[in-house]
Formats: sequence, C-alpha cells, structure tokens
Amino acid sequence: MSTFETIKTRKSVRTYQGKPVEADKIKAVVEAGNMAAGTPMAGDVYFNVITNAEVLKGIVDGTKAAMANSGMEMLVKLSSNPSYNPIYGAPVAVVISTTKTDMPNTAAMARANATCAGENMLLAATELGLGSCYLESPVLAFNIPEVAQAAKLPENAQPQAMIVFGYTDDTAPHKEYPTNPENILYVD
Ligand SMILES: Cc1cc2nc3c(=O)[nH]c(=O)nc-3n(C[C@H](O)[C@H](O)[C@H](O)COP(=O)(O)O)c2cc1C
Repeated sequence: MSTFETIKTRKSVRTYQGKPVEADKIKAVVEAGNMAAGTPMAGDVYFNVITNAEVLKGIVDGTKAAMANSGMEMLVKLSSNPSYNPIYGAPVAVVISTTKTDMPNTAAMARANATCAGENMLLAATELGLGSCYLESPVLAFNIPEVAQAAKLPENAQPQAMIVFGYTDDTAPHKEYPTNPENILYVD
C-alpha cells in the first residue's frame, strides 16, 4: 500500500476477532509509534503494550467504573450498557504516556508527541492488515492505582491515549470523508 492508500484505508475498527496478533506485527506497530515526530522538549513518550487478558479486563472494568462516576450523562448511560466494551475486545492495547509536567506549554507538546505516535501506529496497523482504533475513554481507568500498576505505567508518566488493534472481520471501506473544501485555504 502506498502511504496515501494507507491513510485512506485507515478507519476506526470497533469489532475484533479473538485471534492473537503475531509478536512481530505487534513490534512493528509499536516501533512505528516510537519513530513518530516529537519534540524532546516535552520529555519521553512511553508505550505499554498489553496483551494479558486479565490486565485488559481490568482496564475495561476500570473504564466503565470511571465512566459511571464521571457525572457526564452520556458516559454514565454508556457504562451501564452490559454489552459496551470500551476497548471493543481488541487483543492488543497500547497505552501511550508522556513525562508528567505542570507546565501547560510542555503538556501541550507532550500531548502532541503522544498523538503523533498514535497516528503512526494506526497507519502501521492498517498497512499490516489489522483493524485499529485511537481511544481516549480507557485512559480514565488509569486514575485507578491498581489498573495503572497492572499496566506497569511508569511512575512519572501521564497516560495520554490508547491504541488498540487486532484482526477484524470489519473490512468495509472507510465511510465517506466530509467534503469541507472551505476549511482548506491556499495562500498563494
Ligand atoms: C483524540 C481521540 C479520541 C478518541 N476516543 C475514542 C474513544 O474513546 N472511543 C472510540 O470508540 N473512538 C474514539 N476515537 C475515534 C474517533 O471516534 C474516530 O477517529 C472518528 O469518529 C473518525 O472515524 P475514523 O477514525 O473511522 O475516520 C477517538 C479519536 C481521537 C482522535
């Protein structure tokens, strides 16, 4: 696949097969994340690669508990749905974290570093024929110390995002992209 084909093929996948992902593919996806653009001014980017079923379940339960206590109507309602799985049954979940900081500018750069890493991983997974999704909700679970410890998050790390991926039967093409040409301005 060319880079442009991969970009067009990538989509958020929310159903996964039980089939495990081969170790070399997991490594290739995570290394793609580690090769992303990023400023060293914001410290380090960490990748915690989780395939352990018990740890994944802890993240699912922790996310639902945090959503239930969020006070946000939509999240509370979603968390009460027994069939809702915030990581959609994906066999691999990668927590992307960055060095903790109290400085807003540095925090913004750290967030951007994590996001660049995440997009690289989504594209790498797509290239390898895997479904993937960028997730924010499961990050809530890491406020629960036991969940953060089980995921072996570094002490000084701020979890920023989770990328899940795996084999999927959802091979439908990406839904049509919005046409908003007015949002693109060429200044010649
Ligand atoms: C910062 C960010 C947070 C997201 N969080 C979630 C999430 O918690 N759960 C989810 O199902 N999808 C999440 N998504 C995926 C978006 O819903 C998805 O990218 C968007 O609907 C566009 O669809 P596409 O990825 O198929 O192009 C997130 C995406 C981004 C960039």
